[in-house]
Amino acid sequence: MEKKRVLVVGGSGYLGQHLLEDLLRAEEPFDLAFTYHRTAPADEMMKALSPALAFRVDLVTGQGFDSISDSFGQPNVVINCAALSIPRECEKNPAYAMSVNVPSSLVGWLLSFADKNTFLIHLSTDQVYEGVMSFYKESDETDPVNMYGKTKVASEQFIRANFPNFAILRSSIIYGPESVTPVSKSLPLQWIDSTLSRGHEVEFFYNEFRCPIYVKDVVNIILILIKKWVTDEKPLQLILNIGGPERVSRLQMAEKVADVRSHDRSLIKSVSSSSVDRGVNSPADISMDISRLTLELGVIPVSFEEGIRLTFRPTDVRV
Ligand SMILES: NC(=O)c1ccc[n+]([C@@H]2O[C@H](COP(=O)([O-])OP(=O)(O)OC[C@H]3O[C@@H](n4cnc5c(N)ncnc54)[C@H](OP(=O)(O)O)[C@@H]3O)[C@@H](O)[C@H]2O)c1
Repeated sequence: MEKKRVLVVGGSGYLGQHLLEDLLRAEEPFDLAFTYHRTAPADEMMKALSPALAFRVDLVTGQGFDSISDSFGQPNVVINCAALSIPRECEKNPAYAMSVNVPSSLVGWLLSFADKNTFLIHLSTDQVYEGVMSFYKESDETDPVNMYGKTKVASEQFIRANFPNFAILRSSIIYGPESVTPVSKSLPLQWIDSTLSRGHEVEFFYNEFRCPIYVKDVVNIILILIKKWVTDEKPLQLILNIGGPERVSRLQMAEKVADVRSHDRSLIKSVSSSSVDRGVNSPADISMDISRLTLELGVIPVSFEEGIRLTFRPTDVRV
């Protein structure tokens, strides 16, 4: 049987690299390609992700998609991990954020093929919710408090209105080991760990709640979705909250890292989120109900404590 062609848009980013690593090792072999935007992938990344093909694509203009059509062909599955994913940057440049995060050029390209049956998996965020209650369900109203969340709501609406076969994943904070080539943004657990290991006092919010999810759980969810679609070949229109099993404050996240990594807990200072101006509104409680994830895909994500242990395992035994 012909191998399915899988394209990871934003494959040079944190999640994209982790996903490509596991797609390369998947039981069912795929033909793989990925896109990057700013700089061509380093040799180290190309080697680790070989034989995946790399293409430069700009989602704002759509430049680069034609070369994918020419040398890779129409993908059977696209996972869109590309975004301007830092809320403060979206706040500073809302028009640009909107043009990157709403995948109109990607969807336009997919619709240009005669066969409209590509399966599109799109990464959204928990920040689509307002953050005024606990355990949001997918059916709850979206009402983001910042530009990042607004661009993601717009991206969801755009896909639902224009594309027939999709899964939208509303992800909480994704944490885990470094990617093959480290990304420029700081990773949440590594930042907490390195700050505490230097003996610095650091403040964490007791009143901002999230359901952080281990990166390989996100990858596993995507692999299960691909398998489901490859097996059934029936169009999907799915929106899923994807988060870890626990609702934790930023303070509790730091305390848990301190415990697992044997750091001094007294370095952690509890403060209110209202005491700091971060240049962007941040929703208070966007914890999510993930029962649909378990019901539809049978996924039970690892606990936060287990995820911390997996994050800091030596790289030679990384999963
Ligand atoms: N990480 C999290 O905690 C988290 C939580 C919730 C949701 N999400 C969502 O999950 C997805 C993946 O997140 P991530 O952490 O892996 O993001 P990331 O590390 O910031 O990667 C973003 C990717 O988007 C690409 N990109 C940026 N601007 C582009 C443009 N104009 N045209 C084409 N590509 C462009 C980047 O390419 P270059 O680097 O090559 O420029 C990179 O490959 C994003 O949609 C994010 O919003 C992430």
